[in-house]
Amino acid sequence: MLMTTKKAIKEIQNTFNINAIYAQRVFSLADKTNLLEDSGRIIDEKPKPFVKWVGGKRQLLAQFRLMNLYPPEKFDIKKGKYFEPFVGGGAVFFDLLPETAYLSDLNNELVITYNVIKNDVENLIKSLKKHKLDKDYFLKIRVQNPEKLSDLNTASRFIYLNRTCFNGMYRVNSRGGFNVPFGKYTNPLICDENNLRKASKALKNVEIKKQDYKEVLKKAKKGDFVYFDPPYYPVSKTASFTSYTFA
Ligand SMILES: C[S@@+](CC[C@H](N)C(=O)[O-])C[C@H]1O[C@@H](n2cnc3c(N)ncnc32)[C@H](O)[C@@H]1O
Repeated sequence: MLMTTKKAIKEIQNTFNINAIYAQRVFSLADKTNLLEDSGRIIDEKPKPFVKWVGGKRQLLAQFRLMNLYPPEKFDIKKGKYFEPFVGGGAVFFDLLPETAYLSDLNNELVITYNVIKNDVENLIKSLKKHKLDKDYFLKIRVQNPEKLSDLNTASRFIYLNRTCFNGMYRVNSRGGFNVPFGKYTNPLICDENNLRKASKALKNVEIKKQDYKEVLKKAKKGDFVYFDPPYYPVSKTASFTSYTFA
């Protein structure tokens, strides 16, 4: 006898130790005649964040689950909307992977990059493959003004700088110019093409906008899930805070 949908989702969740929202997604994609094996294949294909991001929550996901900070039982992804108004590297989005979601951030280049990954991933991959790991080249790319670049070149520059600059930081000066130094990595993965393709698929039904978090507050309704992860304030004026955006 076939399992009920609820039972099957629970079985996927327990077998692979994943959160309930992602288990629903896996169930919706899996071949039901070969449920667990196909679920394993889908889970192996899960994307991860495509940028390193200060304050990124990837290391904390297991704890979020243990502490019941995800609302798996209360939140029905089919009825409520998923909002992430401070998306940054999107560690929680890429963990939950809801099919539809409303992501936003104030960092314009980051938002452009999400949208290029979503809509033009193959050209982005081609462009990323052309970059060089060399300090003089890095400085030439760093000095470019993203406001004068196409969206594709903005995304390519953004990922290149994130992969090659010191600690993957994003920091701009008072005129909005990116000013993080060269990172001296021996072999950074500038173009993780498999992950970019997986991320592109995951973003297919996702809206990604540059906007202040307050806009989301106006839209979210009862039954929606909003994950807030605002920036940290420096503990003192001399503490080295990394600014995420010039705006
Ligand atoms: C702590 S980080 C989020 C990290 C993210 N959860 C992750 O796992 O990578 C905070 C983010 O908020 C964004 N931000 C700062 N002020 C904002 C505002 N007023 N509205 C929306 N986003 C803002 C920053 O650009 C940054 O990406």
